[in-house]
Amino acid sequence: MCGIVGVVGNDNTTKILLNGLEKLEYRGYDSAGIYVNNEKGKDFLVKETGKISDLEKEVSDDVLGDIGIGHTRWATHGEPSVANAHPHYSSDNRFYLVHNGVITNYADLKAKYLSDVTFVSQTDTEVAVQLVDYFAVKDGMETEAAFRKALSLIEGSYAFAMIDKEEPDRIFVAKNKSPLLIGLGKGFNVICSDAFAMLDSTHDFVEIHDGEVVILKKDSVNISTLDGKKVTRDSYRVELDASDISKGTYDTFMLKEIDEQPAVMRKISSHYFDGKKINVDQKMLKDVADADRLYIVAAGTSYHAALVGKDIFENLADVPVDVELASEFGYHMPKLSKKPFFIFLSQSGETADSRQVLVKVNELGFHSLTMTNVPNSTLSREATYTMELLAGPEIAVASTKAYTANIAVEAVLAKAMGELKGVKAAKDLDLQGQLALAANAIQTIVDEKDKFNKIADDYLTGKNDAFYIGRGIDYALSLEAALKLKEISYIHSEGFAAGELKHGTISLIEKDTPVFAYINDGIGAAHTRGNIQEVTARGAHVLVIASKKYAEKGDQVIIPEINEMISPIVSVVPAQLIAYYASLARGNNVDQPRNLAKSVTVE
Ligand code: F6R
Repeated sequence: MCGIVGVVGNDNTTKILLNGLEKLEYRGYDSAGIYVNNEKGKDFLVKETGKISDLEKEVSDDVLGDIGIGHTRWATHGEPSVANAHPHYSSDNRFYLVHNGVITNYADLKAKYLSDVTFVSQTDTEVAVQLVDYFAVKDGMETEAAFRKALSLIEGSYAFAMIDKEEPDRIFVAKNKSPLLIGLGKGFNVICSDAFAMLDSTHDFVEIHDGEVVILKKDSVNISTLDGKKVTRDSYRVELDASDISKGTYDTFMLKEIDEQPAVMRKISSHYFDGKKINVDQKMLKDVADADRLYIVAAGTSYHAALVGKDIFENLADVPVDVELASEFGYHMPKLSKKPFFIFLSQSGETADSRQVLVKVNELGFHSLTMTNVPNSTLSREATYTMELLAGPEIAVASTKAYTANIAVEAVLAKAMGELKGVKAAKDLDLQGQLALAANAIQTIVDEKDKFNKIADDYLTGKNDAFYIGRGIDYALSLEAALKLKEISYIHSEGFAAGELKHGTISLIEKDTPVFAYINDGIGAAHTRGNIQEVTARGAHVLVIASKKYAEKGDQVIIPEINEMISPIVSVVPAQLIAYYASLARGNNVDQPRNLAKSVTVE
């Protein structure tokens, strides 16, 4: 949700900024901009609506310098426009600033300090840069003091990077709740919202924590707290390969990531198992196994993976589980059990809704675990424990491999807990074998791409509405299948408990309404068949996706044999492919659907 980059001390600043923004485009893609200064007093501000490629067209060859900042935007305050694009600047054109986050008291600050200032944008961010200018120019403060003074007044979330034209050898940096990293180059330094953005320049990064200020020069990184206490922190190495974050021979990241799922299953199996032994942090295992109730907190696709996890933990680890939407739970916390343990599922590890719950959980003194695809992410750092999803970078906005990886990692933990507690179901489950079966089953599905392309064509061409239905584990799965379809194809789709349809929603079924029915859940299978009859009788165009065990003649998609509890790992894949081809057929940008961002760092 908005990406920021910055460079100090490199003659290729413009190139590094644009390259970094391209890598961060998944965080927001409605407008972008850069500010570059060449120390000889010449500076450039270029902003454009649309994609980074649109910005690149506006950047002429003479936009050169050795210090600069850049931003790709996901609009919060103010429509996508050049005026609202970052960097924002003070009225005297002295300070240039990029921001990721939301300033909640911007209207108060504007009214109190800046009533004389003419604003050129509708953003909350412009208030921040005008405020620094106010303290530096009107109150005659040094820039660093003015920056700190502004920060002390600003409420909300931010990652800021600011350049003062009069001191073009440093970037003023600050962070609160929004992600930001320092990257250490050779003879230069960089900042970025995500390490991906700067892997061409460095693999060595330094975390910035909330409430810290950094003065970044080409040869020094000075970190301090807002009240001026010096902070020392070691760097860490990010071992990612450039090929992990490129499309390779694929046209889209989404298809590449769908195809990577068998490899992800194998990686999870080999990482978390050592022979029969399960490789998890033993202290964490005792801690979580000691809980009388698990609270799994997540958003979006991760929430759907949590719904699948509920069944897995209750069966294998014999513990009651509540699954909670992060955006609701933080502000409407129910009465908790006596010994709760919190599990946060987050691909990015940065989701603001989940993070605000974690902050409260920490304040209450409870222990927690983050399952995330991004080690060193905020949720990973701030939870008591972390388990990695090991899915490799997920770049397409629509989550695919992180969902399946999440279910697999939940199963690993549930089995380890169950074995520790002596639960028979956990001991009996050959999870390694199941993950191997899952890898093979996914492979057979992704090898039949033409089939799913044709299904998308037959069922969804010209359609505005579609339904996924199922019972039990298939209901949880239907929610994810419907989300995948709606978010990238823009076809309105709902995931429904098959039995619930007749209690109202069936009135929406008319001739040729597409209904995708899942039958992997043995207990619900016969009843779901009945529900299929009901919608068929009302004209629905039904596609049945059934596991081999429960399949009947005429079912169109057969899911290879797999343990029911973890079956969504496999049975979600047809839905991912159907969504993909439906989106492609409509000419949508599959990887970057409208209005969305990969990492949602505002509440
Ligand atoms: C949908 C999708 C989102 C995310 C949600 C939570 O395909 O990707 O629904 O799942 O924004 O993000 P994370 O998992 O990063 O916390």
